[in-house]
Amino acid sequence: MNTEKARLTSNAEENDKIFKRAAEIIRAGGLVAFPTETVYGLGANALDAAAASKIYAAKGRPSDNPLIIHLSSAEEADSYAYVPSSYKKLADAFIPGPITAIMKKRDNIPFEVTGGLDSVAVRVPSHSAARRFIELCGLPIAAPSANLSGRPSPTRASHVEEDLDGRIDMIIDGGACDIGLESTIVKLDGERPTLLRPGGVTYEQLTSVLGEVDIDKAVLEKLGEGERPLAPGMKYRHYAPRAPLTLVDGDDEAFYELVGRSASPSAVVIAYDEDIDALERVGYARENILTLGARADISRHAASLFELLRECDEHMFEKIYARLPARSGLSLALYNRIIKAAGYSVVDLKH
Ligand code: TXA
Ligand code: MG
Repeated sequence: MNTEKARLTSNAEENDKIFKRAAEIIRAGGLVAFPTETVYGLGANALDAAAASKIYAAKGRPSDNPLIIHLSSAEEADSYAYVPSSYKKLADAFIPGPITAIMKKRDNIPFEVTGGLDSVAVRVPSHSAARRFIELCGLPIAAPSANLSGRPSPTRASHVEEDLDGRIDMIIDGGACDIGLESTIVKLDGERPTLLRPGGVTYEQLTSVLGEVDIDKAVLEKLGEGERPLAPGMKYRHYAPRAPLTLVDGDDEAFYELVGRSASPSAVVIAYDEDIDALERVGYARENILTLGARADISRHAASLFELLRECDEHMFEKIYARLPARSGLSLALYNRIIKAAGYSVVDLKH
């Protein structure tokens, strides 16, 4: 299949032409990758079971892993889900934005989209191009992240191309994604709201609006034999670079000492700008140090992580080291993604 490519510019009229072409593809049952504020999505008509099934084939995604439906406004959620009062609170505070709500689904959403579940995940992106595209489609758009299953989510159109060129109908290039980690997922169809995946809307922000919020165990820990995460996607080995990634929990000196013992041309450290000199001192060449940005700039770390994991693959490094992030604020989302990327392998130098 030939994959059409189109780049958005600051010209709204030209962009609308691109969105209209993309909407045509969607209405004909095709697949279009588009930018959002979190990561690139791979969109299809969420009301068309056959179109949704194509998403699973293009990504190599297990069919029990449900898709998020994307809408252009929070009010539309009523048409596809039984909306509880907690959704209205979330919407007032954070929607449009990097948050997905799980609610009981209405009959118009096919089970092919929800992986057989009777709930549906709903999100309204804040990215203006994403919303305009969805609006012009006039349909809810089912969209997982636009990567091959098991690879880091794409934060640039070039990442989508790497994974899906020739497998989908169109890629809309809207530049780099602002947040760089997928949306926060909160389940609203049970007794208490439950956080299933941390993201750009933090746990602290959620509790400020919803009161007490449970955290699904899969967010923080490896599940035991027979345990299942509430978000089916969280059980798969996601965000995985090809080389083993080891996380280190310890102070600076202990971190440098430990990674220094493995310094070699095939080892790489993911660290902060402030670490560069010390890592060079313990034996790392500059090209074996990838930085997430300045230490205090957590938003930058979030926006960089997936791209750096892809770089580790490209350079064929054989060993990757990184620090264990904190578990609060936006850093909880980083913690969740990187600990999964590491297969939960943490060297604890603190205890
Ligand atoms: O930021 C995002 O959410 C991006 C952009 C494109 O919007 N999308 C995204 O989709 O990350 P995906 O498919 O890569 O991740 C969706 C997650 C999966 O872990 C899936 O299991 C979970 O949402 N999910 C979807 N529907 C669900 C449902 N009804 N119940 C529980 N989990 C659900
Ligand atoms: Mg994904």
